[in-house]
Amino acid sequence: MKGTREVGRQFIELASVDSTNKYAAARLAEGGLRHGAVILAHAQMAGVGQRGRVWSMAAGLDIALSVVLLPGSLPVAAHFRVAKVAALAVHDVVTEALGTNVTVRIKWPNDVLIDRRKVAGILISNEVSGSQVQSCIVGIGLNVNSTYLDEAFAATSLHNALGHTVDRMALVERLCQRVEARWDQLSTDPGALDADYADRLWMRGRFADLELDGAPFQARPVDVEPDGRLIVEGLDGVVRAYGLDRLRFAPR
Ligand code: BTN
Repeated sequence: MKGTREVGRQFIELASVDSTNKYAAARLAEGGLRHGAVILAHAQMAGVGQRGRVWSMAAGLDIALSVVLLPGSLPVAAHFRVAKVAALAVHDVVTEALGTNVTVRIKWPNDVLIDRRKVAGILISNEVSGSQVQSCIVGIGLNVNSTYLDEAFAATSLHNALGHTVDRMALVERLCQRVEARWDQLSTDPGALDADYADRLWMRGRFADLELDGAPFQARPVDVEPDGRLIVEGLDGVVRAYGLDRLRFAPR
């Protein structure tokens, strides 16, 4: 991969696979992957999404890839910074592709939206040893040239937003560069990483329809805790932080 020191230097391109995350986990367990390894699949037959959902892509049109990141030292308590790295890298690439007229936001924890529609999803699995994160598999699904998208999921693609086909492999290269840059930022300037993530948060400062323990809950997102809990201010003015186990955006 051009323009990077580590991310994408080991680049495994598969015509088809069940899931790039599963493939990466198996190869990592065998010791066959180094820091920055990227697994790209042109077709993914059993893509895994958040909350055990299925992730579908259009073969040859969209991006399904996994990046392996091996932190030298990352306390478990700060694991959410990896999610920030991934979401910001995707946000950077989508913003560059679309220009400044379009609003691109990160919907907590790490969906990327164009206006109100989801263009990318991220699924991260971390391996932990003691108090440290040993390895991270960052799975990224980015809708690039799909045009038939499920209305029920309020999905979109770069093609839909731009009205023309996008060079998918150029985007993969850009994604590797941005993952590397954001990963570097995690060690050189974590405060800026946190600030950029908070700045791009969808519905930040505005009352949103959420669900708390399954019940409707209106609150405005303020920021995220280092452990990834979303800090929200309720209608009663009380500010609290909740994890994904209790809080989610209400389905639209
Ligand atoms: C979500 O539900 O929003 C997360 C979707 C993550 C999909 C990507 S595609 C590449 C990688 N391999 C998988 O099986 N899932 C992730």
